[in-house]
Amino acid sequence: MIYQGKALKVQALSDGNAELTFDLQGESVNKLSTAAILELGEAVAAIQSQKDIKGLLLSSAKEAFIVGADITEFHGVFGETEDYLVEMNQKVHALFNSIEDLPFPTVTAINGLALGGGCEMVLTTDFRVMSEKAKIGLPETKLGIIPGWGGCVRLPRLIGADNAIEWIAGGTENKADAALKMGAVDAVVPQDKLRETALDILAEAQAGNLDWQARREVKKAPLQLNQIEAMMVFETAKGFVAGKAGPHYPAPVEAIKAIQKGATAQREKAQEVEAKTFAKMAKTDVCFNLVGLFLNDQLVKKKASAYEKQVNPTKKAAVLGAGIMGGGVAYQSASKGTPIMMKDIAEDALLLGLKEANKLFSKQVERKKMTAEQMGEALSRIRPTLSYGDFADVDLTVEAVVENPKVKSAVLAELEDQVAEDAIITSNTSTISITSLAKNLKRPENFCGMHFFNPVHRMPLVEVIRGEKSSETAIAATVAYAKQMGKTPIVVNDCPGFLVNRVLFPYFGGFIGLLEQGADFQKVDKVMEKFGWPMGPAYLLDVVGLDTALHANEVMAEGFPERMKRDDKTILNVMNEQGRLGQKNDTGFYRYEEDRKGKPKKVVDESTYDLIKPQIKETRELSDDDIIARMMVPLCLETVRCLEDGIVETPAEADMALIYGIGFPPFRGGALRYIDAMGVKAFVELADSLAELGPLYGVTDKLRAMADKGERFYA
Ligand SMILES: NC(=O)c1ccc[n+]([C@@H]2O[C@H](COP(=O)([O-])OP(=O)(O)OC[C@H]3O[C@@H](n4cnc5c(N)ncnc54)[C@H](O)[C@@H]3O)[C@@H](O)[C@H]2O)c1
Repeated sequence: MIYQGKALKVQALSDGNAELTFDLQGESVNKLSTAAILELGEAVAAIQSQKDIKGLLLSSAKEAFIVGADITEFHGVFGETEDYLVEMNQKVHALFNSIEDLPFPTVTAINGLALGGGCEMVLTTDFRVMSEKAKIGLPETKLGIIPGWGGCVRLPRLIGADNAIEWIAGGTENKADAALKMGAVDAVVPQDKLRETALDILAEAQAGNLDWQARREVKKAPLQLNQIEAMMVFETAKGFVAGKAGPHYPAPVEAIKAIQKGATAQREKAQEVEAKTFAKMAKTDVCFNLVGLFLNDQLVKKKASAYEKQVNPTKKAAVLGAGIMGGGVAYQSASKGTPIMMKDIAEDALLLGLKEANKLFSKQVERKKMTAEQMGEALSRIRPTLSYGDFADVDLTVEAVVENPKVKSAVLAELEDQVAEDAIITSNTSTISITSLAKNLKRPENFCGMHFFNPVHRMPLVEVIRGEKSSETAIAATVAYAKQMGKTPIVVNDCPGFLVNRVLFPYFGGFIGLLEQGADFQKVDKVMEKFGWPMGPAYLLDVVGLDTALHANEVMAEGFPERMKRDDKTILNVMNEQGRLGQKNDTGFYRYEEDRKGKPKKVVDESTYDLIKPQIKETRELSDDDIIARMMVPLCLETVRCLEDGIVETPAEADMALIYGIGFPPFRGGALRYIDAMGVKAFVELADSLAELGPLYGVTDKLRAMADKGERFYA
C-alpha cells in the first residue's frame, strides 16, 4: 500500500504500475470534498516519492466514478471572498497539474458517472477508457458556476472548442459513444474489460507504441485555432448560448468567455483565467440559489426514498376517467413501465385517452427516444375498460373524474367495493378536501390525494395529500408510485388548494387587483416573464382555463374567506360571463390561433380591454417594481402561511413544489428563498407598504417576529 486515506488509496500493482482508487468510506458515491482533495494531494506526494513506478491507473471502487465536488460544501465555501476562491482553485490546479506532469504514462478507467470535478480529474490523465454504460460531463453551469478545476482549459484542447462549449454550456451528461466520437476518451469497452484495457494502454505507452508525452503537450499548449476560426466559434456560440440560457443564467456565456480568454495561453495562464471567472460566478445570487435548489432537491428526493422503502412497488395501477388528466396519468404510468387500467363511463372518452397516449408515444419514436416495438409494448400496458371487471388485483387507483364533490364521492365509494381491502385509492382532485372525500369511504386510511399537474407528462410535481385519516402506508405507496412514474412527489397536508394552488391563487388575486387599478395585463405579463416566470399571469390563467380558475378561486375563497373572499364581481367573473374560457375555447385575455405546427399561438385581443374597463376602479401609475411586488408578495405570504400551518413540512419542500408545480423561476430558488434573499425585514416592510391593498398583503405575526429577530427560512 502506497497510500491509504478515507476517500482514496494508492496500491502498487505487480507489473510496476500503481493504482489510485477512489472509494469514499461511508458513502454510496465518490465526491471530491475538501477532505478528499487534501488526501489526493497526500496521495500524489506519496506516488512522487516512490522511485520505481512506471505508470498510474485511476479507478473507482463505486458504481459511479466520481460524481463531482461535494455540493453540500458550496454555500459555506462560496461565502468566502473572491480572492480566497481564486486561490483555492489555483491550489487544485497545481495539484491536478502535478498528476498531469507525473514522469510516466497515466490512464483513467471510467466505470460510471464522471461528472464535474470527477470529469476534470479524468482529463488530467494521458488516456481514458470508458465503460459502455458510463457517462461523462461538466454540469457546473447548471449550478451557476463554470468548471473550475481545469475543465474550461483541458476539454477544449482535447475535443475542440465547439464540442467543449456544447458540453460545458449545456451541462450535459454525455454517453460513452459520444465521448469516444469527440475524442474525450480513447476507448469504450464493456465493463468487464475496462481494467484490462486500461492496463493494456499503459503497457503500450510504456513500450513506446503510444506517445503519451505528445498527448499531454496538446493539453498544456494554447488551443489550436487561428484567429478567424476562433472568432467564428466563440462569437457564434456566445450569441446562441446567451439566447438559449436567457438573461437570468449568466454562467454558460461566462464559461465560453473563459475558454476564449484562455485559448491563446499556456495551461497555467488559462487556468488563472478560469479561476477568476469561477470565483466571480460563485459569488452571484444566481449561483447561491441554484446550489440551494440542488440541495433542496436532494432533500425532497431523500424524503421520497424513505417513504419508498416502506412499501412494495405498485405492480398494477388503475385510473378512473380518461380525460385530460386520466389519459395523461395512463400514458405516464405505461411509459415508465407500470401497467394501468383506464376506466371511463364513455367509450368515446376511452378512445380519446388512448389517442392522446398514442400521440405522445409516437413523438418519442419520432425523436428516437423509443423504438416502434417499445412503443407497442408501452401502449399495451394501458388497458381501457368500461367496467370494474379486473380491479380485484389493482394495487393503487388514481381517481380523475370530473371535479364535482358529489360525483367524486359516489365514484370513490363504488370503487372501494371493487378493489382489494388493502388497495390504495387516491384522488387527483385539484380543490376538494381529501378529508371530506374520505367521509364516504369504509377504509379512509387507504385513501389520500395524488395531485398531478397539467400536462402530466411534462410537469414534474405530484402533490401527495394527507387527509385526516390517511395512513402512512397510503402516503408511502402513493409517493412510491409517483416515483415509479418518474415524478417528484412532495407530501403535504390537506387544506383548500393544498399547497400549490393555495399559493397560486393569492398571486392571481394580486393580478386582478393590479388590473382593477389600471395596469395593462400585457404589461404585467411582460414584467413577470422578465422577472423569470415561464408565462405571465394573464397567459397562465388562459392556459389553466378561466372557468377552472374561477371555480378553484371560489373554493379558496370559501376556505380562506378572511383573505380571499370578494363579494363584488371581479374580472374573473366577467371573463366567464362572456364565455372567455381561455386557451380551451381560443379566447381569454388573449385570442388563440393555430400556428403552423397546429399549436395554439396567442395573439393580442384589443376587445379584452373594453371588457375589463368597467372593472377598473382607479388608474395608478405603476412601475415594473410595483407590479412585481404586488404579484409576488401575496404568493410569498401564502407560502409562509402554509409553512406556519404545517401544510408543508420544510422550506425546501415548499420552494421545490412551487418550482416544479407552477414554474416559479428556478434561479430565484422559490418563494421562501426569495424572501430570504430580500431579507425577512425588508420583505415585511415591503408587504406593510402595500397593506392598504387588503388582507392578501397582511404579514403574519410569526413572520414579523422573524424579522425582528433577524431570522431566515434557510440557515
Ligand atoms: N385539467 C387540469 O388542468 C387538471 C389539473 C390537475 C387536476 N385536475 C383534476 O383532475 C380531474 C379530472 O380533470 P380533467 O381535466 O381530466 O377532466 P376531463 O373532463 O377531461 O375528464 C374527466 C373524465 O372523467 C370521466 N368520468 C366521469 N364520470 C366518471 C365515472 N363515474 N367513472 C369513470 N369516468 C368518469 C369523463 O367521461 C371524462 O372522460 C378533476 O378532478 C380535476 O380537477 C385537472
